[in-house]
Amino acid sequence: MYKLEKFENGFEYITVKNEAASAKIALQGGHIFEYIKEESKNLLWLSEQSAFEEGVAIRGGIPLCWPRFGSLDESLPQHGFARTELFRLLEVKEINATTTEVLLGLSDTPFTRQIWNHRFHLQLSIRVSQTLQLSLSTENLEDEAFMITEAFHTYFTISAIKNIVIKGLEEKPYYDSLLDCRSKESQSLIIDREVDRVYQETDDTILLVDKEKTITLQTEGSSSSVVWNPWIDKCSKMSYMNKNAYKDFVCIESANAFDDFVIIKSKKKHTLSLVVSF
Ligand code: BG6
Repeated sequence: MYKLEKFENGFEYITVKNEAASAKIALQGGHIFEYIKEESKNLLWLSEQSAFEEGVAIRGGIPLCWPRFGSLDESLPQHGFARTELFRLLEVKEINATTTEVLLGLSDTPFTRQIWNHRFHLQLSIRVSQTLQLSLSTENLEDEAFMITEAFHTYFTISAIKNIVIKGLEEKPYYDSLLDCRSKESQSLIIDREVDRVYQETDDTILLVDKEKTITLQTEGSSSSVVWNPWIDKCSKMSYMNKNAYKDFVCIESANAFDDFVIIKSKKKHTLSLVVSF
């Protein structure tokens, strides 16, 4: 079952429900902001202050960072423009009693060509099932190659920041955006301060181990992952976030970022995929 719904201000989203799970997906940004399996809580952290307003990125869920991750490209907004563009609903496939696939599309417009002068087609597939599966494919419609960086900027709900351990990033080289240096650690990652790191060579599974559950992330078409938590000071200054929100979420972002940029040849596609299970 699915339905196209609207908040009072006209902001549109799709609700999906099947025997395994339910989800809410905003057309703006192709942004999934709720995924609930069986009796569990929303897997995706969503700020109580999040705006569902045209042109404003939702704070939480899974923002799509595209065609740039981060803020290195001064001609583009931080994390690119896709997260505030309106996607088209292409199709909803009710595959079986426990699996629903939502297909959304975004193509270049005069506005996007003004800030990023390339013709493209983006297709986002969101499969709501026992697992949550996302797949973002970028098609280059130009006669020449172009370069992208991108991410599924997933905000995970956690029981408390002090309870979690992130496994699978041991010995992976990372760029520390706070210290502007590269490093590596042998230990699993615990978060007890502000963390903003781009891990490279992350082609294996990453585990987010919490008190009562372990969330598994498996990616394809990506070999970088960003781990971010703003901690106390930054959290109190962030838009659309309560000052203590840093205790309740961690972002593990499946990416093509920094050294892991992607060059897409003319008329070719690149696909970034993520399967989240618990
Ligand atoms: C993370 C970045 O991906 O996103 C952080 O690594 C950034 O540096 C964070 O602060 C949030 O970004 P935004 O644009 O959603 O506030």
